[in-house]
Amino acid sequence: MSVPSLSAISAVTFQKNPQLPRNCTFDPRDWEILSKYWHPVAAATELGNAPLSATLLDESLVIFRSEGQIVAARDVCPHRGAPLSRGWVENGNLVCPYHGLSYSAGGQCQHIPSQPNGPIPDRLKLNIYPAQEAYGLIWVSLGGGHEPLPSFEAWDAAGFQQIVCPSIDIKASAGRQTEGFIDVAHFAWIHNESFADRGNAVVPQYSVERQGTGLRAEYVSNVNNFPKAFSHRAPQGFLWRRTFEVDVPFFARLTVQFPEGGRLSILNAASPVSSRLTRLFVPIARNFDHHIPVQDVYDFNRQIFEEDRAIVEQQCPEDLPIDRTAEVPILADRSSGAYRRALAEIGLGQAYSS
Ligand code: FES
Ligand SMILES: [Fe+2]
Repeated sequence: MSVPSLSAISAVTFQKNPQLPRNCTFDPRDWEILSKYWHPVAAATELGNAPLSATLLDESLVIFRSEGQIVAARDVCPHRGAPLSRGWVENGNLVCPYHGLSYSAGGQCQHIPSQPNGPIPDRLKLNIYPAQEAYGLIWVSLGGGHEPLPSFEAWDAAGFQQIVCPSIDIKASAGRQTEGFIDVAHFAWIHNESFADRGNAVVPQYSVERQGTGLRAEYVSNVNNFPKAFSHRAPQGFLWRRTFEVDVPFFARLTVQFPEGGRLSILNAASPVSSRLTRLFVPIARNFDHHIPVQDVYDFNRQIFEEDRAIVEQQCPEDLPIDRTAEVPILADRSSGAYRRALAEIGLGQAYSS
């Protein structure tokens, strides 16, 4: 038996894409595709004066505010690898807790306390990623930020209240979670306690069309959208119109028409922390019930997503199968079929082993 030479072993070891995070849980091609998009990593209110740590696509990030600007960087000090998120911000610079080197919003090292008059190597520079604030969330793109941010027009519409529900961690893939959000046949079963009714399981035919990078589905039914205890607020026979608009990879807007011109818009923004962990952010805008405490909205939102979580965390396989033969669609799945096709079009899922 021949033993491989040391140089051959090194060649194999270092073939990996240097961009990929350590311990990347994604297929490398999927990671590269997903990295091009913007993903939310935190609620804007979570980021105060101290740096924040977050994980996106298996990459550890430090997020900080530098004189009003939001900065996201790899959470690794280029000096000796300490986590910068354990440091602090001083005069707009991020200070590493290990040896006190400080970094500007542009990422360049500004100061080395142990050699105040010595040279600062150019390579003492953070890996900076594009970051921005929108819809009450902080968004980061690891791959340059060239794709557009998902739109959420209701957020800034006149007369609409802005609510950012606390995020929810789900031990499932972002694709599975997003598909669950647009799945209308599960209302009667999973949400029987919160708003729907197991005795009302029929899904009337609904329309699905391609829109932008994703789809638009219009679903009209008599499934009440008020919390069960308030279902009497809808007039007898009221027909509920729900519009789902999906942008790849993991964004779904749901607009629900309430009685008397009420409108509720929800952005389901599923952030892929890893291929098996999703941090779900849910900004909501509504033009009614402004007097009701937002805590009630948080509680109702959590109840619904906890109901979903119980199933989504158990689905097998964990990855959303893109191969159409892997699972068996039914008529009510028109929107999820279109969603899977949209994901396939951007190249995701080609290596899924489902
Ligand atoms: S590891 Fe950050 S200053 Fe040394
Ligand atoms: Fe659900």
